[in-house]
Amino acid sequence: MSTVAVVYHSGYGHTAAVAKAVARGAAGVDGVEAQLVSVADIDKHWDDLKDADAIIFGTPTYMGGVSAQFKAFMDASAKVWFVQGWKDKLAAGFTHSGSQNGDKFNTVTQLFTFAMQHGMLWTGLGLMPGNNTSKGGVNDINRLGGFSGLLTQSNNDQGAEAIPASDLKTAELLGARVAATARRLVQEREAVAA
Ligand SMILES: Cc1cc2nc3c(=O)[nH]c(=O)nc-3n(C[C@H](O)[C@H](O)[C@H](O)COP(=O)(O)O)c2cc1C
Repeated sequence: MSTVAVVYHSGYGHTAAVAKAVARGAAGVDGVEAQLVSVADIDKHWDDLKDADAIIFGTPTYMGGVSAQFKAFMDASAKVWFVQGWKDKLAAGFTHSGSQNGDKFNTVTQLFTFAMQHGMLWTGLGLMPGNNTSKGGVNDINRLGGFSGLLTQSNNDQGAEAIPASDLKTAELLGARVAATARRLVQEREAVAA
C-alpha cells in the first residue's frame, strides 16, 4: 500500500473542495490510500506525513502567494527540514484563486521551492493545456493551462459549488498521477530491497 497525503489550507472552502478532488483521484489508484490533512489540524498529522510516500500541497492564492496559514505550516515544517524527513518523497502542488490568473504561478513556485528545500521530487501536472483553441472551452481539462502545478479558479462572489467540473476533474487527474507514480516508486524500492 502506498500513501498520498494532501495537505491544504482553505479560508472559505474553495481550496478544500479542490483538495478533496485531488485526494479522490489519488484514492482511485489501486493500492493507494489518500489522506486529507487540513493545516488547521497539522499537529495531529506530522507522523502521517512522515509515513506518506507522496505529499501534495494546496493553498488558496492570497495576495499573490500562499496563504498566511499555509506559510505557518511551511515554517513549522523546518523541524522536519533539519532532518530531511521528507527527502525523496514525491511532491506536487495546487492553488485556487478568484481571478483567472491572479498570480497563481507565484504560489506554485513557492510550493515548488518549499518541496525542493525538503529534498522532495516534484511532480508537475503532466496534462496538455486546454481552452486554448477555437474548438476548446472552459469545460476542457486543464482549462487554465498549468504545467508546474494544478491551477483552479472560481468567482470571488460564489462558493465552492461554482468551481467548474473541469477544474475538479483536472484535480482528480493530478491526484491520480502522483498516486500512480508513488505506487511505482514503492514497488521499485520493494523489489530492490527483496
Ligand atoms: C486575503 C485574500 C487575498 C486574495 N488574493 C488573491 C490574489 O492574489 N489573486 C487572486 O486571484 N485571488 C485572490 N483572492 C481570492 C481568493 O483566492 C479566492 O477567494 C479563493 O477562492 C479563496 O479560496 P479558499 O476559499 O480556499 O480560501 C484573495 C482572497 C483573500 C481573502
